Amino acid sequence: MLLLSKFSKNKIIKISQKSFFSSVNRQFSKPWDYTSKRSHYPNSQVTLVLGSQWGDEGKGKLVDQIANEYDVICRFNGGNNAGHSVVTTINGKKIKLGLHLFPCGALHEKTVNLLGNGTVIHIPSLFEEVKLIEDIGIDALSRLLISSHAQIVPDLFQLIDGLEENEKSLGVAKKIGTTRKGIGVTYAMEKDRIGLRVGDFYGIHNDVIQKMQFEEQLSSLMRICKGRFSYLLDPKFCSKEDRRKWDEYTDIKRAMDRYTKYSKILSKHNTVINTMDYLNDAIKKFGKKILIEGANGVLLDTEYGTYPYVTSSCTLSAGICTGLGIPPRLLKKVDFNVIGVAKAYQTRVGEGPMATELPKEENTEMALKGGEFGVTTGRQRRCGWLDIVALKYSHQLNEFDQLILTKLDILSGYDTVKLGVGYRLKNGQTLHKTIPIDNSNYDDLEVIYETLPGWKEDISGIRSFEDLPINAQNYVRRIEKLTGIFIRWIGVGPDREETIEKLH
Ligand code: IMP
Repeated sequence: MLLLSKFSKNKIIKISQKSFFSSVNRQFSKPWDYTSKRSHYPNSQVTLVLGSQWGDEGKGKLVDQIANEYDVICRFNGGNNAGHSVVTTINGKKIKLGLHLFPCGALHEKTVNLLGNGTVIHIPSLFEEVKLIEDIGIDALSRLLISSHAQIVPDLFQLIDGLEENEKSLGVAKKIGTTRKGIGVTYAMEKDRIGLRVGDFYGIHNDVIQKMQFEEQLSSLMRICKGRFSYLLDPKFCSKEDRRKWDEYTDIKRAMDRYTKYSKILSKHNTVINTMDYLNDAIKKFGKKILIEGANGVLLDTEYGTYPYVTSSCTLSAGICTGLGIPPRLLKKVDFNVIGVAKAYQTRVGEGPMATELPKEENTEMALKGGEFGVTTGRQRRCGWLDIVALKYSHQLNEFDQLILTKLDILSGYDTVKLGVGYRLKNGQTLHKTIPIDNSNYDDLEVIYETLPGWKEDISGIRSFEDLPINAQNYVRRIEKLTGIFIRWIGVGPDREETIEKLH
């Protein structure tokens, strides 16, 4: 049977199905080392920093550390469900800020910080962060750009997110353990084409017609929400306080007053623009350097994460094209670098499978050692050994040029350290580089571990790889060998300077 035709010197060459598939399946005799073609230089024109696990890998510290080498720091996905702490010293005083929405360039006065169209923005929370930054004497608002296409997270969506979680806790559906920041509700409304964009309210303080149009949009959204979600006011899911909030958040006049005020504040610095034009010009016309920080983590991606226990945005490197409007072919033309961030062990917050999770006591011990309590919700994170299978899967999805391995210091003191290198499923199948599609596979899954000798020394003061205890060096080298990803930096403490740069 004829399957394909292709033209060669004006002659049609017919390829039979058999020869086509046999050529596809044929083993290549000489593997091409494509990694040798890639730049290991972190200081590229476009650099993307992505959490390679379930979030909280410590992306903030790296971004904060390299931000001053870049002109624009961007976010392309998520909202204030993300959380990162940035630590700095101002006038000899150590200052730690917990940020959720504001890009990590916050503390570098020369950078522009940009929230792309793929982000979802709860404006009052953003203003709180602006205030935090300005309170330590650093200008924030004048360095912020917001895409007019980014979706707004109204207060009501945050409330609905929380009420839906309460409802799910009663067994109506699978509880996700969301951050209750309205992220899923906002992306759902966007896809349903009834969401509100920043550009919809930006300008209403001095444009009567736009104000009327926005009020109409808002009113119709509130009508839809009341129709769809009033059942959540059932006292089974909804406290008296939540009921009071519902009335407050569905009050159109209150909302209009607030958005008018936000519009006025944002317009002082022309904060809301077409960020897609801005970024493309910045890259192509002006040769500016762009640093992009991913929010959440690869394994929380809606499509490729452990669905349904995921967030509602694309957390992959692919997400920067849609979330910022940068075409893939432009990334091919510039020097583009993807840095993955992986914790030296594994954590997860919220529900969902986690193959290498430790039993309760050891779990809590690791959480306490690592200070594993969420920046956004304060919840204790679930802990376990580093999952190499999940890391390889993450690498396949993102093609990291290099990794930063964070929090290696937390593993000091263990007699042995483990790496989860394979999953053995109930049906006998073993997985080494991909996670199961079906969550039910996790129920009887057995993790194949490699056990390595641990180290006792405090490594937080060490700044060169060769000075690390040999067992710590072997642990890092083993991760490199198993994943095939070059580990360029190793985090040994929370401060900016507590990082080891490893050159080979
Ligand atoms: P949502 O993003 O608030 O809808 O939450 C969905 C899931 O993603 C929950 O399990 C959250 O705990 C998790 N999640 C969302 N953002 C982060 C993050 O930045 N770090 C860790 N977990 C997150």
